[in-house]
Amino acid sequence: MTPQAKPHGFVTKSIHWISAGLLGYGYLKGLDSVSQLADPALLQFEITFALALGALFLLRLLWTKRVAGTTRLPAEAPRWEHMASRAVHAGLYVGVFGIVLSGLGIALGYVTPMLGGLFLTAMIGLHEVALAVLPLLLVAHIAGALWHKLARRDAVLESMTGPLPV
Ligand code: HEM
Repeated sequence: MTPQAKPHGFVTKSIHWISAGLLGYGYLKGLDSVSQLADPALLQFEITFALALGALFLLRLLWTKRVAGTTRLPAEAPRWEHMASRAVHAGLYVGVFGIVLSGLGIALGYVTPMLGGLFLTAMIGLHEVALAVLPLLLVAHIAGALWHKLARRDAVLESMTGPLPV
């Protein structure tokens, strides 16, 4: 029988699904133009949201690396699966931190004209690249989860969802 993945713990699962929800909200509610930052309440909300999302991902990184353990992919899984999983997970962290930091950079550039137009343009460019790349990584991440569910049947998807009826 294929070796089965051990479930992630309650804290890891909670952080995973809360951060997935926050990210989805961020994509749906994101701003269309820098000029919207002229509204001080909106500017403050965007900064708070970016700080909260960044803090949650940082917490998740520290929690899984230091306390709860990272992937539940069974050690016996093929080498290519280990490499693909590590690459996509690393990409997800880089993508999210890229969005958060460039977003904070945009806010900083907006309220600090001294930094100059080039700084703001660079931050907007970085933000757009990260916003475009992250969904591609998420498609790979979800395809990987489905691969484990449907082809490998090794309980890796269930490690993050809890047991699901077969
Ligand atoms: C339908 C959506 C999603 C599904 C089915 C899903 C499924 C999973 C599963 C099964 C794992 C555990 C993999 C393992 O133990 O190796 C995992 C881990 C992970 N997921 Fe998701 N996920 C989804 C959405 C997201 C979203 C929106 C993000 C946000 C970027 C995300 C980021 C991550 C990260 C970073 C890990 C690795 C955790 C770690 O080991 O540090 N996932 N996901």
